[in-house]
Amino acid sequence: MGKQKAHRTSKHVIHLSAECYPVAKVGGLGDVVGALPKYLQQAGLRTWVVLPWYNKPFVQSHTFEVVYTGSFNQGSRPLDMTVLKEQSDVLGFELYLIKIPGLLDRDEPYGYADESEQFMAFQHGFLHWITEAGIVPDVVHCHDHHTGLIPFLMYYSDAFSALKKVPTVGTVHNGQYQGWMDWNKAILLPPFDTWKWGLLDWDKTINPLAALIKCCTVFTTVSEGYLGELMTQANGLEQLFAMERAKGVGIVNGIDTAVWDPAADPMLPHHYPPSRVQSGKKKNKAFLCEAYGLDPEKPLLAYIGRFAGEKGADLLPDIIERLLGRENRDVSIMVLGSGDPQVQSAITYLANQYRGRLGAYIGYEEQLSHRIYGAADFLIMPSRVEPCGLNQLYAMRYGTVPIVRRTGGLKDTVQDIAEPDGYGITFADANAADASNAVGRALELYADRQRMQRLRKQLMALDFSWDKSAVSYIDLYQNITE
Ligand code: ADP
Ligand code: GLC
Repeated sequence: MGKQKAHRTSKHVIHLSAECYPVAKVGGLGDVVGALPKYLQQAGLRTWVVLPWYNKPFVQSHTFEVVYTGSFNQGSRPLDMTVLKEQSDVLGFELYLIKIPGLLDRDEPYGYADESEQFMAFQHGFLHWITEAGIVPDVVHCHDHHTGLIPFLMYYSDAFSALKKVPTVGTVHNGQYQGWMDWNKAILLPPFDTWKWGLLDWDKTINPLAALIKCCTVFTTVSEGYLGELMTQANGLEQLFAMERAKGVGIVNGIDTAVWDPAADPMLPHHYPPSRVQSGKKKNKAFLCEAYGLDPEKPLLAYIGRFAGEKGADLLPDIIERLLGRENRDVSIMVLGSGDPQVQSAITYLANQYRGRLGAYIGYEEQLSHRIYGAADFLIMPSRVEPCGLNQLYAMRYGTVPIVRRTGGLKDTVQDIAEPDGYGITFADANAADASNAVGRALELYADRQRMQRLRKQLMALDFSWDKSAVSYIDLYQNITE
């Protein structure tokens, strides 16, 4: 992280997000918001992360001080709010949680019927707090649609006029989810300049992601490839992204190399530096295979991720049937994930049918994910849409060969072994035939022990840390505050 010192600046940047690892993580958004701010803080920026309060182990096991209490109305509903700051800055930046009984005091970030009210309260509460407390940061950085209304409210609501001149960054981690809500919810927002209602609207609904793109000073996407793809594939917002393209910047995500370090990862049963990747992975594989009744002598292919259409998870049952059934390949498979109930039951069924060849854990299990990155020979990602993807980056850091569909951030971060200096396996289309052909190529590679050994070392030497990308964000903050 030393390189960033040259950019030392005392700018004050506030990140707003629904997730932040290790406080609350559902997917990659949590990883990014738990890591990037740490790198920014180390580079000299005063970095805050503001999250909704969640009933989570991290929150229970750390000490917080109350820095603000107040109240505001959501429509006619009075809401009491408390802002709590984690006392020791243990995460490497200042962490603030907004607690509002009944809305921001939940077990999980998502999945509630009143999610619109929940995130409106988060955004309104944040603006109410910093306005009342007289806090005027240099930049407000909003992540995804859950925080998408903030730039609009900063610029077009009189209540927050102290923030009118503060530039905003909007990062699109996933354009598929937009936070749509009916126009009858507009009365729940703080009063705003109604002449500007069109900025909230897309296709006759309030669309917080669209509002973010329209109103923010600059928007970023989590890879360059994804920025280009949004012009043609953005779940209805293609035209908007095309129109606003001039203020879009693609900055590829990094990974937190302190959390994801196979030489020291406390979640791994056996540690290994790059020089011992061969024996280290072998021991981790033996450990995992023992737990899931798999043969440690066979190559191990893994899938980790949400069972969602974007991830191509619905293709998994067919891919597994091909590999273990019809083609009867000499391979073991390990699946970790949850989501679409149909995929969940298909995987559970197949794990029974192919007992000893397919291991599965349906659910979310952070420790197991680390163990799989450590143990697997290959990690497959048949994504239809992948704004960046972190799994392939973790896999590579752990010496595991990624097998990815050429899309979005996967295309930007994985070069096929057929290219000079390539280090992964890529395929063109999100279908089971292409994916299992790619696995076929992987198994050929596996048979060449020396090449496989070299490749693992090559993967572990690649640098996907935040060092470079954090500097791109710092440059961006610099440009918009000049
Ligand atoms: P997305 O955010 O779209 O789900 P990413 O690739 O950016 O995809 O990040 C996924 C993150 O969530 C990674 O840290 C991955 O290891 C983790 N993850 C996904 N599913 C699970 C699961 N079932 N158990 C544990 N970790 C998971
Ligand atoms: C989203 C995307 C994923 C990306 C992550 C972090 O969840 O689906 O591709 O890596 O955000 O930016």
